[in-house]
Amino acid sequence: MVMKAAVLGHPVSQSLSPRIFNEWFDAVGFPGEYEAIDTPPDAFEETVRRLMAEGYAGVNVTLPHKNVAASLADFRNKAVERCGAANLLLFRSGKIIADNTDGAGFARCLVRRDKPGASLPSKAVVLGAGGAASPVINQLTPQRVHIANRTKAKAEALAENFGPSCSAHDWDEIPELLKGADLLVNTTSLGMKGQPTLDIDLAPMSPDALVVDIVYAPLQTELLKQARKLGLGTSNGLTMLVYQAVPSFLAYTGLRAPSPEKTLRALEAEK
Ligand code: ATR
Repeated sequence: MVMKAAVLGHPVSQSLSPRIFNEWFDAVGFPGEYEAIDTPPDAFEETVRRLMAEGYAGVNVTLPHKNVAASLADFRNKAVERCGAANLLLFRSGKIIADNTDGAGFARCLVRRDKPGASLPSKAVVLGAGGAASPVINQLTPQRVHIANRTKAKAEALAENFGPSCSAHDWDEIPELLKGADLLVNTTSLGMKGQPTLDIDLAPMSPDALVVDIVYAPLQTELLKQARKLGLGTSNGLTMLVYQAVPSFLAYTGLRAPSPEKTLRALEAEK
């Protein structure tokens, strides 16, 4: 019997997930089929329940459904509870089990290619307080995290949710926050194709700093270009995308993803 799974989003045609999962199914010889299903918000719940009834193993969930996915589930793990968002719904015995693997994807961004074995950062600055920020902050805490957002109230709500190791800041505090910081994560939409660039000066950061941009279209954002010029470490958004699929693949198949690093390098080479 073929195991079926899908990614639900709106829009979703651009999703790399079918390619990633189907490549991995082929590589390990697992009888799986993975598709992208465009799902407008008003059809989300009905689509989830229909796929469960049709015997799908589960679905991955992307924008704009991650919050609703969390609330729809019968069971939620801690990451889902803390982020209020899920990107994986597993169907088991007629129940929906929610997980959030974005934090695991982000964790891989902290593994430095330029300095394997480098110690984890101690002063982190996260830009943005939208849906992409929560799993990043959840992964970093209880480490010290400074959250800067254009709308400070949203940063404050996140800082309150994630506890005393987080603080909220105005956007214009960024230059001050970056002094001596050894990790910067952009979770805003700035730098994405069609959006303004993220225009900040990275010079005050620690010389050992790592700069993570979760934007992956384009792959080489101005932020990452500047970081490289300064000799800082960088991680791109494709890393998070590929590695958030690893725990999903394990949940669907019981098998380890065969070659995430190879998949990542191949996707990077195409961008
Ligand atoms: P998502 O939930 O998909 O992450 P979002 O909630 O719209 O999307 O969040 C986008 C993030 O990018 C937010 O932190 C947003 O800041 P606001 O909370 O002030 O809206 C940030 N962002 C978008 N455009 C921005 C801009 N021009 N300058 C600074 N931040 C911006």
